[in-house]
Amino acid sequence: MLIAKDMMTTTELYEIAKLVAHYPVARAACIDVLKLVQKNRRYISDDILAEVARILGMSISELDEVATFYNLIYRQPVGETVILLCDSVTCWMMGRNKIAKSIMDNLTIKDGETTADGKYTLLPIVCLGHCDHAPAMLMGQTLVGDLDSTKINKLLPKA
Ligand code: FES
Repeated sequence: MLIAKDMMTTTELYEIAKLVAHYPVARAACIDVLKLVQKNRRYISDDILAEVARILGMSISELDEVATFYNLIYRQPVGETVILLCDSVTCWMMGRNKIAKSIMDNLTIKDGETTADGKYTLLPIVCLGHCDHAPAMLMGQTLVGDLDSTKINKLLPKA
């Protein structure tokens, strides 16, 4: 069976060219280009990574090293909303694991998984800089602190 190759659109190629023009060398734009492409596609597939690498004059492994170093670049499909639950020390001391359990119970997923309807993905992340309101999480673009199960039940009610 022939599987269609994941390819970038002309609009994406145009946006990348515009972005790259701001940098002295194309490869310097790699993180911004990955973020731009991810915004349209939610994650960076192998085909897209290879295409971006070719455009930026990088090897696939060089670009993959960058993509996998930054934990906000996703190399696997994620849900519409990514929930990044802090697992650093302050949040851990303030009950992060209890919060993780509430989220997993409500969404019927495990850590690192995506809900069956593709709406949410739960991932761990290092300190979000919101330690004075620990435990904290980033839900999509929204930083939420002082988490407890009541708050989780409001934000992510049981299906
Ligand atoms: S330790 Fe969780 S926000 Fe800093």
